[in-house]
Amino acid sequence: MKVTPSGQACGAEVTGIDLTQPLSAEDIDSLRIAWLKHHVLSFPGQAMNDDDLERFTRCFGDFGHDPFFAPIEGRQHIAAIQREADEKSPLFAESWHSDWSFQALPPAGTCLLGLTIPPVGGDTLFANQHAALDAMPPEMLAQYEDLIAIHSAQMAYAPDGAYGDKDEGRSMAIRPDESARETQTHPLVRDHPETGRPGLFSCLGYIIGFEGMAQEQALPLLQKLYAWQSREEFIYRHKWQPGMLVMWDNRSVLHCATGGYDGHDRLLHRTTIAAYQG
Ligand code: SIN
Repeated sequence: MKVTPSGQACGAEVTGIDLTQPLSAEDIDSLRIAWLKHHVLSFPGQAMNDDDLERFTRCFGDFGHDPFFAPIEGRQHIAAIQREADEKSPLFAESWHSDWSFQALPPAGTCLLGLTIPPVGGDTLFANQHAALDAMPPEMLAQYEDLIAIHSAQMAYAPDGAYGDKDEGRSMAIRPDESARETQTHPLVRDHPETGRPGLFSCLGYIIGFEGMAQEQALPLLQKLYAWQSREEFIYRHKWQPGMLVMWDNRSVLHCATGGYDGHDRLLHRTTIAAYQG
């Protein structure tokens, strides 16, 4: 197995391993070490099917709980991230986020398998939130370090949210629901549960405010933070190939989708890895 760092703020490519076959305990340990170090791993040239994707996901934990998506037919834990060539609805996941950060125990990771990949565009961006915290000037850090963030899926998945009842013509099986208004708190700056390395967790979007702070004060702080978290120097730009698997660490990175592939289909299958509980 060979792990080649991207040379950007995070991310590494892994070759010399066949993910269509069960992995040895030694391989799984090596992959976990590489994942915790580079935060995003990509595996090109894997002719994986959905069974392989599920087996690979389970090497790193239980399946996470995916609300607001209907799974693909015949599977409980695989969602299709898809866009048709002529689709006009706003791009899915174009804002920075950490998957399902509004849950009490958000997923440790996400796996995404590229099936139909457009010839141009459709890159996924990742922003390293350990690097974003490390580089934060002391006067800015003082504003944020003790804040408890309030998370919710309401802006995205409530019936009046971005993917709510007025979101028409989308090929993805998104299921908005009133439960998206529930809230959950997490410290904004927190230690990674496995490495202990401090980082910023999640961002404006799923974070809707801060505990004990008026919204007029919280919103500008969240906007300023979002701009900081997504600075160019913290970003890895991932370019997809068909048959490529990517796994990322939601506790270390934010991610977002990009467009630029109008006129082309794009389809990926996604699973989440449940929170690590020691
Ligand atoms: C996602 O956020 O799960 C999708 C990312 C992408 O489509 O590039």
